[in-house]
Amino acid sequence: MKKIGVGLLGLGTVGMGTYQVLKSQQPEMLQKLGVELEIRKIAVKDPEEVASQVDDPRLLTADWREVVQDDSVEIVIELMGGMEPAKTSILAALNAGKHVVTANKDLVAVSGRELLDAAAENHCDFLFEAAVAGGIPIIRPMKQCLLGNQITEMMGIVNGTTNFILTKMEQDGMEFQEALALATELGYAEADPTADIEGLDAGRKVAIMASIAFHSRVVFDDVYIEGITKITAKDIQYAREMGCTIKLLGVTRYDEEGIEAYVCPMLISGEHPLASVNDSYNAVFLHGDAVENVMFYGRGAGSLPTASAVVGDVFDIARNIRHNCCGRISCSCYKELPIKAMENTQNSFFVRMLVEDKCGVFTAAAGAFADNQVSLAQIIQRPAGKGFAELVVITDAVKEGDLKKAIETLKAQATTREISTVLRVYQKKGETE
Ligand code: HSE
Repeated sequence: MKKIGVGLLGLGTVGMGTYQVLKSQQPEMLQKLGVELEIRKIAVKDPEEVASQVDDPRLLTADWREVVQDDSVEIVIELMGGMEPAKTSILAALNAGKHVVTANKDLVAVSGRELLDAAAENHCDFLFEAAVAGGIPIIRPMKQCLLGNQITEMMGIVNGTTNFILTKMEQDGMEFQEALALATELGYAEADPTADIEGLDAGRKVAIMASIAFHSRVVFDDVYIEGITKITAKDIQYAREMGCTIKLLGVTRYDEEGIEAYVCPMLISGEHPLASVNDSYNAVFLHGDAVENVMFYGRGAGSLPTASAVVGDVFDIARNIRHNCCGRISCSCYKELPIKAMENTQNSFFVRMLVEDKCGVFTAAAGAFADNQVSLAQIIQRPAGKGFAELVVITDAVKEGDLKKAIETLKAQATTREISTVLRVYQKKGETE
């Protein structure tokens, strides 16, 4: 029986996990796939450093070209991450007729079309299940099991680091910096946490999810992004009083005006299943016209969970090779839909502000909302010491442009000391119109 040769680019956290999962699967591979896989080459920055961690150090090389040019390698697994040399190596592998699996969300969110086109031209598979929500199957279910649906909305918690931080802020009353320090200490946050806490990592996943959900290419730059760095323990306390929790949500929706794609901290009802997705877990919700609601939940990051998705893709390709049917699931973007400007999206809003505690100030603030067609759903007013009051409201669903006008009106009022926080409030599609 012919064995299928595999080449690995990168042996970091996910690369090593993939190496281990492939190894642990070896005894049953033949039964599962009808064919065996064999790792033939591994490219790493420093072969000496990892030599003791692999069974056969002779497979190691410092040059990715040796992997993609190796005639005995049929499947290349790119786990170096980042834009370069990942992109060049993937294109070289595809152009050499090799199938490629990657977990590289940065690259797919920006250059997905180019890479999928190269795969199609070369009759190869290019799979990236691990790029969205790590170990949780999202891409394949959407491209296969749920293909008989018109998807109208996909949203969820797709970043574990920020979910861990927000959970600590919610459950232990920590402020952002303290929770971030804990996330760093426990290894959830990277040394440079920017991509996670500023929402960039989640934004890349939303671009990929939106492209697949609506069959129209959405790239990273199309996604509106806000991070969680300005959220305070006080915001979370007020949100709780108003029956909500705060989560960093990635949301993508489609209607006749176009595709909405954004990542931002949002209030979400405590009754919504996503409100109880805590710690570093991820979860994704989608609505399809036939299936109704579906929720996926699990580990969105980590060595073995992400490796689980990578190896699933590799196995799928092995089956395809065996049955001589590669390229079955290729680029699924056959439409060109417009991206909706944030100004035109509809959401409820949470607004926390500090105002002078004088007769008529509440009426003036309420007037600023009403004059801009913003209706209020919930209101809390609290003394804030020394002649000030804190005013916290949740609005009804409103066009974002109108909410911005209301905020400008509020800012212009002499009695407004500060607009402390403005956050969107998640409402199910259909409840926002
Ligand atoms: N850093 C990401 C997270 C995992 O915290 O979820 C990789 O996308």
